[in-house]
This record gives sequence, C-alpha cells and structure tokens, in this order.
Amino acid sequence: MKIIQTVSQLEALLQQYRGEGKTIGFVPTMGALHTGHQRLVELCASENDVCVVSIFVNPTQFNNKEDLQRYPRTLDADSELLLKADADVLFAPSVEEVYPEPDNRIFDFGLLDKVMEGHFRPGHFNGVAQVVSKLFAYTKPDRAYFGEKDFQQLAIIQAMVKQLQLPLQIVPVPIVREPSGLAMSSRNQLLSEQQRSEAANIYRVLSESKLSVESSTPAEVIRWVVDRISEVEELEVEYFEIVDGESLQPILSWGVAESVVGCIAVFCGSVRLIDNIRYK
Ligand code: PAF
Repeated sequence: MKIIQTVSQLEALLQQYRGEGKTIGFVPTMGALHTGHQRLVELCASENDVCVVSIFVNPTQFNNKEDLQRYPRTLDADSELLLKADADVLFAPSVEEVYPEPDNRIFDFGLLDKVMEGHFRPGHFNGVAQVVSKLFAYTKPDRAYFGEKDFQQLAIIQAMVKQLQLPLQIVPVPIVREPSGLAMSSRNQLLSEQQRSEAANIYRVLSESKLSVESSTPAEVIRWVVDRISEVEELEVEYFEIVDGESLQPILSWGVAESVVGCIAVFCGSVRLIDNIRYK
C-alpha cells in the first residue's frame, strides 16, 4: 500500500493508473477505522482495479471545536486495517494541503440539509461538501463508497454529485453493527464499557418500533421511540425523525413516500451517536 500526503503525488500516481486503463474506487474517511470502514474498503477493492482511501479529519465540518479536538486519531492502527482490507493507496494529507486557503464555497442543498443533522449541526454538511468535492477532484474516482449510517450525508453527497455533474457512481453500503446491535462508529471508542452496552438500546428500540408501524401513526412511533430510549439512564435523544427517504422531509402518514426511514441522534453521556432504520 502506497502512503501519500500531497495532492500532486496523488494526482500523478492516479493519472498513471488511469493511463493503464485501471478503474479507481475511493473511500473517504476521517480515520479511527473500524469494521464498518473495513467493509467499505473491501467492497471498493473488490469492485475496482485501484482502491484509494483518504484519512483526513476535516475541520470545516465540525461545528464544535471540542468535538474536533477529541476526534480519535489512530493512523498506525488504521494503516494496518487498510493493508488487511486490500487498499492500494492511503491518502493522508495535512490540513494545509487540503486548505492552502480558506474554502468559502457555500453549497445549496435546498431542504435536504435544513433538517436533522443539518438543523442540529449548522454548517456541517457544507463542510462535508467542501472536503468531499475536493477529494473527488483529486482522485476522480469511477466509484465512491459511503456508509448508510450517515443516511443524510449520503443524500447530500448524491445531490452534490448531481449538481456538479460529476461522472462517478456513489455506492451506498449497509450499516455494520456490533453483535449488540450498536452501529459501528469511530465515536464508539469514546464510550465506556457501561455506556457501550447502554447505547445498544438505540438499535433495540428502533428495531422494536417496526412492529408498531401497522397500528400507529409516524407521530406515535416517534413518541414511543423517544420515550423508550429516554428511559435508559445514559441516553438523551437529540432528535428522532421519520422521513421520506428521498426528500428527507418528515412524513405524517406511512402511505405516500416510497421509502421511509427513521433517523436518530442520541447523546450517550457526552458522545453523540447517530443511527437509522428503514421502515419501507
Ligand atoms: O463520513 C465521514 O467520515 C466524513 O464525513 C467524510 C465523508 C469522510 C468527509 O469528511
């Protein structure tokens, strides 16, 4: 696996691969890699001639300085995982390399980024779009892989690719869960053992809520989920929304939307976790 830190070296290497007729797959990450990332990388490596992974903790997507500072950074362990998962290139640039000058671009995603994560983390998705558009420009991948845990991020990236008319395919990859049901996340490393087991209640309650879809309105299911999760001592729900899987706008009844997803953000102590469940 080649480890590259500058944009010019990455571009030169990938141009050479492209010249040899090789397809390029790309997995953008912020490091602190876990089995969920491993799944993305393995899939990318199996579907493309060259698998590029980036590790870059992007400052512009953190609306909270403390969160940025304590985001786990584990480059040595990450490199080992990437080797095992068959990645060919690791791109790990510095902040100065990606932002030699401030990025002042403002993206317009309409209502997509006004709800849920966009509402509670103002500016977050603009920062994600800034960095991912830069990373796409450096790598020019044929395919890029994103986990469905960040359901709203996936919708934003798809909208951005459409807006910028980028010639690449976005490949959504299902959530990978710990045996307890807890969605794999880099932030899980910040949980104590006790918190980790309490956090497993998030997915347990979401799964159980599917049973009441026939007999309850979306508003009733929302109330039920929030109440059940709030019963767990360490957990505090920031939001739980049941939305149209395309527009991400809240639904009032189950009937109209083709796909319906419940998206949740929960504080477990001071660690913010997100998860989602598909109702249809
Ligand atoms: O999902 C993430 O890890 C980040 O938001 C991403 C896509 C790598 C952009 O920094």
